[in-house]
Amino acid sequence: MTGVRPDINAQSRDADLYARAERILRDNDRGGYTVPTKGLYPFQWNWDSCLTALGQRHFDEARAWTEIETLLAHQWADGMVPHIVFHEIDEGYFPGPGVWQCGGATPTSGITQPPVMGFVLQRLYAEARDQAAARTRALALVPKADAWHHWFYAHRDPRGSGLVAILHPWESGRDNSVDWDAALMRVPADGVAPYRRRDTEHVDAAERPTQAEYDRYLWLVQHFRGLGWNSAELHDASPFRVVDPGFNAILVRSDSALAELAEAIGLGDIAARARARVSRARAAFPALWNEDAGQYVCLDRVTGEQIDSRSIGGLLPAFAGLGDMDRLADTIAARRGHVAFGVPSHDPADVRFEKRRYWRGPVWLIVNQMLADGLRRHGRVEAADAIVADSMALIRRSGFAEYYDPTDGGALGGPHFTWTAAMVMELLVGKRG
Ligand code: GLC
Repeated sequence: MTGVRPDINAQSRDADLYARAERILRDNDRGGYTVPTKGLYPFQWNWDSCLTALGQRHFDEARAWTEIETLLAHQWADGMVPHIVFHEIDEGYFPGPGVWQCGGATPTSGITQPPVMGFVLQRLYAEARDQAAARTRALALVPKADAWHHWFYAHRDPRGSGLVAILHPWESGRDNSVDWDAALMRVPADGVAPYRRRDTEHVDAAERPTQAEYDRYLWLVQHFRGLGWNSAELHDASPFRVVDPGFNAILVRSDSALAELAEAIGLGDIAARARARVSRARAAFPALWNEDAGQYVCLDRVTGEQIDSRSIGGLLPAFAGLGDMDRLADTIAARRGHVAFGVPSHDPADVRFEKRRYWRGPVWLIVNQMLADGLRRHGRVEAADAIVADSMALIRRSGFAEYYDPTDGGALGGPHFTWTAAMVMELLVGKRG
């Protein structure tokens, strides 16, 4: 049954939007996990699932916890939480388990994704209607999230810089961003086994990565597979090692949230460990600031240089209240000022901006939500409200798309999209601030 929350006026436009969002979450529910969208993404994705739980909790709190429990049931022994869990066989997706070859009764991919989990768990717990159930479930999940965070600093920051590297563009969650171009083109493309892409059978090729990029994505997968997916070896052996401010900011926010949650449920040791990680990361963040850009930028850990690319990843530190929030708010406002609907995933003033190609210009509601949340939490209420207004305008205009053209608000990518629906629920009924 699709219900309407009592706190939304049943006759309002919002009630209709809420009901449509709930319908999407239910349609894409495969029982214990939710697919991002039918066809294009037929399995469980890591950060999609966590953000999906934020929506599910509004109509079924128990189901929201289950979403994360299912993901964590496939955590690796070393602590890594994979970016995809292949619950079913589906030939419509490439690269599938046969390419990854990571083993396991239920196969997974061998790389990870932005760790929004800690942030989500804390919110599920703090705002739970059923506090006793939330406590029981959190007690089982918090140590696992802590093990994942520990894995990041052990294996993705082996020299102890305080910041972790991603080893594949897909780990960033912003798969095709301009941020990766230079580092990715240094990755060889020779020796990649012949393959057939499936993404461009679902979505217009103009909205997806190029062939040259895809070859290199696969080269990296083959390379890591050749190393037996041994986390202790991958970092130094990878020709692609990038420190992404967005990814690190998400880790910082999630670690702070984990500390708060762990404290609340009596896991003081975990809280202390998480706080120590946060302090080290915060102290290291200034190395990513770029004064000319007025934002953070990526650091190429292979060359030791900052990467010249002004993407949304460098604005996401606002989610964790890192650095000069006024400067970040100004830069976000300037980006919005260039387009009809914010916040574009890349600076529209850059020649590499592409309004339709994914992560090179379009708007994602999940990113908008994180930016708005961070800005509001740190007192930039007007800036947060402006982003929320853009988000609602996009939904009203183009429905629940994977992403949107920032110039005309058109729907792009896959339709009937799960995390977009979850974010709409957060916007309509989630607590602000
Ligand atoms: C794309 C996005 C990634 C997301 C996945 C499923 O690959 O870049 O962030 O997790 O789709 O929605």
